[in-house]
Amino acid sequence: MSQSTRGSATVLVLCGAIGVITVAATLAWGRGSLIPERTGAAGSSVNVTEEYGKRLITQTTELLGPDVADPKMRFTDSRLACASCHIGAGVEPGNLSLTAAMSRYPRISPRSGGNETIQDRINGCMTRSMNGRALAENSPEMIAMVSYLRFLGDQDAATGAAQRKAHESPAFKTPNRAANLEAGQRVFEQRCAACHQNDGQGLPATGNLVYGYVFPPLWGPNSFNDGAGLHRVLTAARFIKAKMPLGAANLDDDQAFDVAAFINSKPRPEMSGLDRDYPDRSKKPVDTSYGPYADSFSIEQHHFGPFQPIDAYYKSLQKASK
Ligand code: HEC
Ligand code: HEC
Repeated sequence: MSQSTRGSATVLVLCGAIGVITVAATLAWGRGSLIPERTGAAGSSVNVTEEYGKRLITQTTELLGPDVADPKMRFTDSRLACASCHIGAGVEPGNLSLTAAMSRYPRISPRSGGNETIQDRINGCMTRSMNGRALAENSPEMIAMVSYLRFLGDQDAATGAAQRKAHESPAFKTPNRAANLEAGQRVFEQRCAACHQNDGQGLPATGNLVYGYVFPPLWGPNSFNDGAGLHRVLTAARFIKAKMPLGAANLDDDQAFDVAAFINSKPRPEMSGLDRDYPDRSKKPVDTSYGPYADSFSIEQHHFGPFQPIDAYYKSLQKASK
């Protein structure tokens, strides 16, 4: 698609006058052309498909959420957007950026134990982070999201290395202790509640759940489920340290660790069949909060730490097998 419609200020500046012309052209296509595969509209272009892909990622609740008028298009039970976590529609560098996603697939996934395509990976987020169901591989929505990711990848090939260097996520070092939920609650109250609200349930856009959230929910029925990556305390802590509070991320490792654990101590939707994840249990990340495990540490310790003893156990096994 034309770079100008990405909504990214930097790109707009780079495109200059050409960008303005392309925006006008895209608008002129009108609404119907946003879903070219459905209508088979003559003259529909890859560009328009990518634009639909971007909208799916930023306006997910409006297009695929539980309040969508057409029941067949209700794919997610959460009211998050993909962009609630993949900030700036995945364009923003750093933690959970999607700019290089395309280049990483297909690959072997320890979670499924098999080969994982980019479509499988998207559906991983659909069924867990979005607490929904999988999109068909040949659906217009999947095709559009993949072509959007391909667009980001092409752009990344040109400028990505420099961007990444300029916006490297701060390193997160796991504190050598169990997380402290009370300390986490204090961080939440002081640094997070102003946006995500005191009850963690977020602030819906213009009071309307159809359009998703201005500040998304951190737990509860509209948030990610317990099989999601962010339900792992270390994954969440890395994201939080790099990106939250939004626009003012400056927590230290201890604060990020404790507040991640606090959020993940709260109720959220449960996913069935999680015991089938990681068929090779020795490949299960140490902070996976559900069993079975290839070790005898408690679920509690896998959820909230301390993680060093679990790490040490697996390292010693590796050494012994050499
Ligand atoms: C609640 C947060 C959250 C939401 C919402 C979410 N994701 Fe993700 N996504 C993640 C996490 C965590 C990862 C794993 C990152 C890792 O493996 O380190 C991930 C990984 C991915 C990847 C692989 C990135 C890579 O470089 O390997 C893709 C592609 C992706 N998500 C797409 C989506 C799409 C499309 C949606 C919406 C349908 C979505 N995600 C919604 C948290 C989220
Ligand atoms: C200034 C408002 C603001 C503050 C303060 C803030 N966030 Fe966020 N947060 C957001 C927005 C907005 C998003 C969604 C990303 C977007 O729309 O760009 C988000 C997304 C998230 C997400 C992923 C989506 C979800 O709902 O789970 C998590 C987790 C999160 N924030 C945790 C925190 C934590 C922890 C703190 C406190 C340390 C915090 N945030 C402080 C605005 C804020």
